[in-house]
Amino acid sequence: MKRSALTLIAAAAFPAAALAWSDQPVDLTKDHPEVPVASEEDGRYLTEDGIPTFHVAEDGTVDWMTFSGFRRYHSECHVCHGPDGEGSTYAPKIKNSAVNMEYYDFIDVVVNGRTVGNSVMPHFGDNRNVMCFLDDIYVYLKARGMDAIPRGRPAKKEPKSDAFREAEDACMG
Ligand code: HEC
Repeated sequence: MKRSALTLIAAAAFPAAALAWSDQPVDLTKDHPEVPVASEEDGRYLTEDGIPTFHVAEDGTVDWMTFSGFRRYHSECHVCHGPDGEGSTYAPKIKNSAVNMEYYDFIDVVVNGRTVGNSVMPHFGDNRNVMCFLDDIYVYLKARGMDAIPRGRPAKKEPKSDAFREAEDACMG
């Protein structure tokens, strides 16, 4: 009796755990409003709602943020989440999460962390090597989730604009 009530409460409190964004396959035939590019400024690509997104040219050249995100992901997240956002035995496949979760929810988990039982996502809110490049990491993972780029290091990239240089200097202090 007591046990089943607790199970019900747990299911209500953690609906995301039951649905696990990372376990839901990305349906490439569906519309993903947080993907299409609506505008570009200084090499930064945004959706209609102003959410950062990736851009891959016909010859495979990726935008600067996607390339930067590849590097930052592999220095800060890959140890748990596996190479290329593919997931590991103990941390989820976050290339799917980057497409299936809303941008602000994704950011929230990284800033504040999340613990579900023994499963711990650390918080990175005080880590500048993550915070200053969180949009880059998100954009990179979204490109992976949408299968817009292959696994591994992107071969061709747009140059780093002055705007990125300035933002990085300001953020890293
Ligand atoms: C020490 C291991 C570890 C590191 C390092 C780590 N994570 Fe996680 N992360 C986890 C675990 C474990 C979970 C699952 C937590 C849970 O069960 O709620 C998780 C969950 C997440 C989720 C939620 C996924 C979903 O579908 O709900 C996101 C987003 C995420 N991590 C992003 C990142 C990013 C970005 C980085 C690098 C800056 C990172 N993580 C580094 C262990 C880690």
